[in-house]
Order: sequence, then C-alpha cells, then structure tokens
Amino acid sequence: MASSCRSSRRGTTSCSFILIILCFSFISSSQLLSQACHDVDRSALLGFKAQITSDSGNLRTWNASTDCCQVQHIECDTTGRVVQLNIPGTPDMAAPDETSTFPLTGTLSPTLGNLSSLEFLKINNHYEGLVGPIPPELGNLQNLDCLHLGGNHLNGSIPSSLGNLVQLTSLYLFNNQLSGVLPSALQSLTKLTELYIERNQLTGEILPEIGNLRNLNSIDLRYNNLQGSIPSSFVNLVNLYNFYVRGNRLSGEIPSALQSLTNLTSTDLSPDQLKGKIPLAIGQDA
Ligand SMILES: *[C@@H]1O[C@H](CO)[C@@H](O)[C@H](O)[C@H]1NC(C)=O
Ligand SMILES: *[C@@H]1O[C@H](CO)[C@@H](O)[C@H](O)[C@H]1NC(C)=O
Ligand SMILES: *[C@@H]1O[C@H](CO)[C@@H](O)[C@H](O)[C@H]1NC(C)=O
Ligand SMILES: *[C@@H]1O[C@H](CO)[C@@H](O)[C@H](O)[C@H]1NC(C)=O
Repeated sequence: MASSCRSSRRGTTSCSFILIILCFSFISSSQLLSQACHDVDRSALLGFKAQITSDSGNLRTWNASTDCCQVQHIECDTTGRVVQLNIPGTPDMAAPDETSTFPLTGTLSPTLGNLSSLEFLKINNHYEGLVGPIPPELGNLQNLDCLHLGGNHLNGSIPSSLGNLVQLTSLYLFNNQLSGVLPSALQSLTKLTELYIERNQLTGEILPEIGNLRNLNSIDLRYNNLQGSIPSSFVNLVNLYNFYVRGNRLSGEIPSALQSLTNLTSTDLSPDQLKGKIPLAIGQDA
C-alpha cells in the first residue's frame, strides 16, 4: 500500500538527490524560524501520552516542559502547530526503512481532536496495539489528510464524525475489531483515494454512496461481515485499480459494468456468493 498522503512526503525523506542541498538549507532555515509547540497542541499531546500504557520508547522522556516540536515522530509547522504524529509500531515489513520501535498500547485520547492543524495521524501496529474506541473527536481534525490506525485492537463503531474530515485522502482502519455499519457520513469524503478497512467485524451493506467517491483508487473491505450486493454505483469509480471484497457474506450479481473500469487491475471478489463474471478474472489477493 503506497500511501498518497501529502504529509508523509514531508521532511528529509522527500529530498531527492538533486535537491539535497536546497532541502538542507530549507530545513535548517525553517528550524531557525520555527516556534515552539503551541500550548493547545502540547496539552493535547500530553493527554494522548497519558493514555498510552506501554513502555513507549521516547514518549517516556517527554513531559510538560518538552517542546513537542522537537520530539521524534512529531512534526510542526513554523507556527508551532503539530501537523504530523507518526508513530511506527512494531516492525513494518512493508516499510523496513522506517525505524521500528515498540508496540504502542493503551487507548486513543479524545484530546487528539484538539490538534487542529494535524494533517497526518499514523499509529499503525502489527502485533500489539491500541484498544478501545476511535474517539469521535478525531472528526474535528479538519485538515487531516491521512488517518492511519491499522493493525491495532480498536473496537466499537466507526464514528460518523469522520465524515467531517473533508480533506482526507487516505483512511486505513484495517486489522482492528471495529463493528457496526459503515457510517453513511463517509460519503462526504470526496477526496478519498484509499479506503482500507479490511479485517474488522463490520456489518450491514456496502454503502452505494461510496460509488460517488470518484477519486478512490483502492478499496479493501475483505474479511468483514458485510452483506448484500456490490452497489451498481461502483461503476462510477473510474480511477479504481484495487478492489477487494473477499470474505464477506455478499451475494447477488457482480455489476457487469465493473468490467468497463479500465484501470481496475487487481480484484478479489470470490469466494463469496457473488454471481457473474469477475472483472479481469484476476481474483487474487494483493
Ligand atoms: C522533562 O524532560 C526533560 C528532558 O527532556 C528533563 O530534563 C526534565 O527534568 C523533565 N522534567 C520533569 C518535571 O520530569
Ligand atoms: C482538548 O480536548 C478536550 C477533550 O476533547 C477538551 O475537554 C478540552 O477543552 C480541549 N482543550 C483545549 C485547550 O482546547
Ligand atoms: C472494546 O474492548 C474492551 C476491552 O478491551 C471492552 O471492555 C469493550 O466492551 C469493547 N467495546 C465494544 C464496543 O466492543
Ligand atoms: C486511469 O489511469 C490513467 C493513468 O493511470 C489515468 O490517466 C486515467 O485518468 C484513469 N482513469 C480512466 C477512466 O482511465
């Protein structure tokens, strides 16, 4: 899964070889001009830290007098507002370059909803992880581009407030224990390109409104308890190239018009009770 998030390309890793000198001077000058962590963001992050229960690496050494903009895994803009909170969990096979650290356990604090400039929130784990609900307050993060909370043990339903995240391009909630239905508010996420919510316990039908999110290029709904059929509105998803629904309780016809989606190169629809031709007949996992 190559994330399309703007903010994940921030900082030194986005320096190409040719631009490295320019990039260095940009980084050092922006550090000189930067302000320390904004008070609201500092208390939001201390609230977050207070609900983390693991022996969590450098979170341990972080206290009320720390400038949170100088803390590893946090990035601020020049006004001291936090734009990125990116805590890698246990080793990520998909991205071995990322410094793998520690399993992050505990719950997600509602105070994270006060990080009003946040663009990138990533707490992906692989073995251990966060428990409890996704705080509805995350729906206050109007600038959020990426919400990556895959591989935890989050439970409860997906809050409909996430429909307020109108800048969101990438939503990863896979490998959790989320239940309930897909909130219809998700239809407001018109910039969404990636929707990875596989391996949860979601019920109900696949929302037809998802077919109106025309920027989607990847949808993974595998291994939930979804019923009903694949909405015919999905033929509007002209940019779709990954589409996975295996391991649900879907039935009915596969919309034949899905075969007109010329960009669809990877599908995994069977072995549900779906009838009809599998587009491109690839039918394999990603
Ligand atoms: C806060 O952390 C700094 C190091 O980052 C340390 O020097 C200081 O003593 C700590 N303050 C408290 C109250 O723990
Ligand atoms: C931060 O969030 C909490 C919980 O949502 C709220 O009670 C509190 O007033 C907020 N603090 C600030 C400074 O905005
Ligand atoms: C979520 O998991 C916790 C235990 O980690 C449990 O106490 C709680 O009832 C669960 N909530 C839901 C909605 O399943
Ligand atoms: C398919 O992908 C190509 C290139 O990746 C893109 O230019 C095009 O707009 C996409 N959509 C359709 C309908 O071909």
